[in-house]
Amino acid sequence: MAKKIAVFASGSGSNFQAIQEAILRGELNAQIELVVTDKPNAFVVERAQNFQIPTFAFQAKNYDSKDHYEREIINQLQEKGVEWIVLAGYMRLIGQTLLSAFPMRIVNIHPSLLPAFPGKDAIGQAIDHGVKITGVTVHFVDEGMDTGPILSQAAVEVVEGDQEATEKRIHELEHELYTNTLKKLFES
Ligand code: GAR
Repeated sequence: MAKKIAVFASGSGSNFQAIQEAILRGELNAQIELVVTDKPNAFVVERAQNFQIPTFAFQAKNYDSKDHYEREIINQLQEKGVEWIVLAGYMRLIGQTLLSAFPMRIVNIHPSLLPAFPGKDAIGQAIDHGVKITGVTVHFVDEGMDTGPILSQAAVEVVEGDQEATEKRIHELEHELYTNTLKKLFES
């Protein structure tokens, strides 16, 4: 049975697209039931529409608490029978409300070799630090920022003096690592 998943994203959504394309190629036994975004104008919304996948867009400022908007997200997820939450550039900490509704059922991808360089602009942080090797991590989500048990990692060599080229390498690797990791997770 195809796993019913929701993808959460705040930005471009290239990881969302890579996952959906892997599903359409028959490489990942899953169905994206919903895209959740906290940025109604994010490019991921357009990508989701192109695949005719429904989106739920909210703005945190319209709610009095994280618990409040997460309860609304949970209603949407339950309505669609979602089993797994896949974070793909969702730039918000997941709260207790969602964590307890989906225990060990939320995964995230991060563009560094965690625990190095958590948080925003991980690629910039790594380059500023002068590392020669960085990479990508897929992990279960807990209450921390880019913490939680690691599922998979892969390394990328930094392209000296060319941040754009380094970013390109990382994003390409992300697309491959995320779909492969989800495949193993859903088959286990
Ligand atoms: C990805 O590089 C992802 O690893 C990162 O946001 C980007 C989203 O790109 N996530 C984090 O930094 C989480 N802390 P995308 O919107 O093109 O998939």
